[in-house]
Amino acid sequence: MKSNLEGRTAVVSGAGAGIGRAIAARLAQEGARLVISDINAERVERAEAELRAGGAEVSALVADAASNEGIAATFAAALEDFGSLDILVNNAGVPDHWKTMLEVSDEAWDRHLGINLSGPFKACRAAVPIMIKQGKGVIINLASISGFRGGRSGFAYTVAKHGVIGLTKAVAVEYGAAGIRCNCISPGSVETSLAGMDGMSEEGLKIREKGIVTRPPRAQPDDIAPAVAFLASDDSRYVNGTNLVIDAGWTAW
Ligand SMILES: NC(=O)c1ccc[n+]([C@@H]2O[C@H](COP(=O)([O-])OP(=O)(O)OC[C@H]3O[C@@H](n4cnc5c(N)ncnc54)[C@H](O)[C@@H]3O)[C@@H](O)[C@H]2O)c1
Repeated sequence: MKSNLEGRTAVVSGAGAGIGRAIAARLAQEGARLVISDINAERVERAEAELRAGGAEVSALVADAASNEGIAATFAAALEDFGSLDILVNNAGVPDHWKTMLEVSDEAWDRHLGINLSGPFKACRAAVPIMIKQGKGVIINLASISGFRGGRSGFAYTVAKHGVIGLTKAVAVEYGAAGIRCNCISPGSVETSLAGMDGMSEEGLKIREKGIVTRPPRAQPDDIAPAVAFLASDDSRYVNGTNLVIDAGWTAW
């Protein structure tokens, strides 16, 4: 395996499970040192142990990716333990169980937008000054095909992921000249706990049925991670502000 990321420090939020865990493993394989975080202590500890067993240099912490404090603690670990913050993957996210607009309470709205959109915003806002000082840095946000289509999830998630794509483009334009690249990826449906069927809205499920007719088989987290490694590496040095769709052609229909 070519070591594209040797000597670089990557921060991955929500890395205790699913796509984030696969991304962390892939970046480590490519030579990156890792700071992984998750709000769930058991998950992040297990992921840390597995990554270490695979030979990765890794620091792990329990942190809320939606809070300024959690983000600051994670970036401090990167700087203190490894001396830089080269790659930021804003991966942490929560599902909305396909709740339609009329089913979304103020509390649910605040929670979903807080984690799925404000979290990446706060992390970008905290990372950019560090990356400007370094003269370079790469940010990769987890968007979704819900970020440019309706009916691929519930209302709040759809709105938040549309915001993530906008956030990505705005950061790319505002800080590209400072050596910072900011891109996002949009997976289709990936087999993780987020895509589980518990607590689904009946109204939302009726909408889901219409779109699912053309859905290819679900992806595995390992189908998503290589794209993040590419966007993190210099192989993508001319790629900035883009949204890379990884959905086996679902939205090509
Ligand atoms: N699974 C899919 O079909 C799919 C499709 C498109 C996009 N995505 C996006 O990919 C990302 C990862 O999703 P996944 O499917 O791996 O989900 P997952 O539920 O399997 O894993 C998400 C991880 O994030 C953690 N987390 C949740 N809230 C957090 C917070 N506030 N702070 C820190 N950690 C937190 C969870 O504990 C969990 O370990 C999300 O942004 C999601 O929206 C997923």
